[in-house]
Amino acid sequence: MEAETHGKTGVVNDEVINEVHPPVGVSSLDYKALYERSLADSDGFWSEQARSLLTWFSDFQNVQQGSFETGDIAWFTAGKLNACYNAVDRHIPARANQVAIIHEADEPGQSTKITYAELLAKVCRVANAMKEMGVRKGDFVTLYMPMVPEAAIAMLACARIGAPHSVVFAGFSADALRDRILNASCKFVMTADEGKRGGKTIPLKRIVDAACSGCPCVKTVFVFKNTCADVPFAATRDVWMSELLPNMRPYCPCEAMDSEDTLFILYTSGSTGQPKGLAHTTAGYLLHTALTTKHVFDLKEGDVYACVADVGWITGHSYIVYGPLINGTTSLMFESTPLYPDHGRYWDLVQTHKVNQFYTAPTAIRALMRFGPEITEKYDLSSLRVLGTVGEPINPEAWRWYNEHVGKGKCSIVDTWWQTETGGHLMTPLPGITPMKPGSCCFPFFGVEPVVLDPKDGHELTGNDVEGVLAMKRAWPSIARTVYGDHERYLSVYMNPYKGYYFTGDGCRRDKDGYYWITGRVDDVLNVSGHRIGTAEVESALVAHASVSEAAVVGFPEPVKGQGLCCYVTLTAKAVESGDLVAELRMQVRQHIGAFATPDVIVISPGLPKTRSGKIMRRILRKVAEGESDSLGDVSTLADPSVVEVLIAKVADVM
Ligand code: WTA
Repeated sequence: MEAETHGKTGVVNDEVINEVHPPVGVSSLDYKALYERSLADSDGFWSEQARSLLTWFSDFQNVQQGSFETGDIAWFTAGKLNACYNAVDRHIPARANQVAIIHEADEPGQSTKITYAELLAKVCRVANAMKEMGVRKGDFVTLYMPMVPEAAIAMLACARIGAPHSVVFAGFSADALRDRILNASCKFVMTADEGKRGGKTIPLKRIVDAACSGCPCVKTVFVFKNTCADVPFAATRDVWMSELLPNMRPYCPCEAMDSEDTLFILYTSGSTGQPKGLAHTTAGYLLHTALTTKHVFDLKEGDVYACVADVGWITGHSYIVYGPLINGTTSLMFESTPLYPDHGRYWDLVQTHKVNQFYTAPTAIRALMRFGPEITEKYDLSSLRVLGTVGEPINPEAWRWYNEHVGKGKCSIVDTWWQTETGGHLMTPLPGITPMKPGSCCFPFFGVEPVVLDPKDGHELTGNDVEGVLAMKRAWPSIARTVYGDHERYLSVYMNPYKGYYFTGDGCRRDKDGYYWITGRVDDVLNVSGHRIGTAEVESALVAHASVSEAAVVGFPEPVKGQGLCCYVTLTAKAVESGDLVAELRMQVRQHIGAFATPDVIVISPGLPKTRSGKIMRRILRKVAEGESDSLGDVSTLADPSVVEVLIAKVADVM
């Protein structure tokens, strides 16, 4: 395992490390004592939390069992509960008339509100419609939905009847959707006619049709009317929700699920091969997302909480749907983009809905910073108390801008570090408690025990002022339990690299004050605008083109996106380099993965730097893409060192 850090945004100097901002506000929570207890009396801590935050149909027996070595982790065994019941039913009657979901549509000024009582009825109708069409407990349902309340409703309806959902982000292409439907042999797919985003229309139903053309397993496609556009309809397979739902009873009983029953799978990219479907189970996931949402966002009665992610990613699952709703808060769903119709959209949203907690990604802050702070001054942002970031390291300048111009120096900034695999936050400051350092995710959450390992031999680097790879020493309730259908891969990616630890894939530094700083991925996973992209997936998309013989993809620092995609491609003997071919290759990646993975730079090269044994030397490709060809290091082991000169010249040409 290479210890080298591939992401550059986390690199900070000592001056920054010593910049400490005192906590904003006050919290009655004694972090230190509670954290210590959460480790010393882990069972006691988690069982209390589980009983106070969740409603159980029947109590659990063991709090936790299993180990990283054996990869058989389980929490709250033999307990029975239902995720939808916890997110919706139990708030009734107390919160029946409280708004559960605010939907801010793509066009400004078009928002709708759904109370908890309405949410229950809507979820039940969808659940009954699914049952009517044959969905049964244990069936996987693929959701390919726009950012409308029906996306959350569909997730909750699946949870209600015990059908694990597999949400696929609606920015993925038909090919990517097909792979994910096939991987879980889904018989049921749910979508809408079309989606809207940033004024553009996304032809969801057509994409689903294209995906399903290669999926014999799909029996039923449920279609919501969203834009009401005319879309193709296959009478033997498709059903209109608008026809089914009015006839459905607005109550549907909840399945009693085991704590360890799968709540959902969600695909994410790794360093090799196809995306993997991480499986999250019911009780541990719900508990961890509920507890983190409560403390990290300092939820108070009557708050309006807005996480502007998409439900297609883990952030949307944990911090738009499950975490906020379990806490009975009002969760805002945002259908648009930070730049539509102009770069004041986020702040208009905050002002209109009097948002108290606002959660976004550093890439969005960097994109907005370019326009200057004036726009934030036009809006009343005084409702804000907590500002969150997620998805990638936040550079200190972006942190300061967020703090100063959005938070007006009066908000807590919570830089939350976590992963699809972790289900919920593992490291983050806590409002009113943690003195914040811009760019650092600060300290572990309750029950989380991070360690910095020496990548060479895996030994724990103790004490402060150390740098290495980040691992976890003990399990937390919401750790993914397996890779769907491939437990071997789960073990080999997370559990085997450093025996006895969970390996995160991130590099990390613990500074002299014990603060954690994520330095970026140490594997071949890229983080482009907060989206996780495996270089292997982009490479396999490229080599699927008839003109491509070989491809190697690396990241390079990009000021707004964090990282950009640089693709080195060699052509087959017959192919001819041209602008059209480069455009075709870009399109090829969009078609295989989705627009968010579009290559920034394509370098057609006569060869790739390889060792004599034929291994591509990515380290060199990275350095060249980063414009650091002066520090290539030893190239003498290359089979043909002259290729490097050609690459340097080519990159200088296209960058
Ligand atoms: C990165 C997103 C630095 C990290 C929730 C991790 C971060 C990967 C942060 C997971 C942060 C996420 N600071 N890096 N606050 N949050 N990352 O699975 O590299 O899409 O491993 O989950 O994003 O990405 P994923």
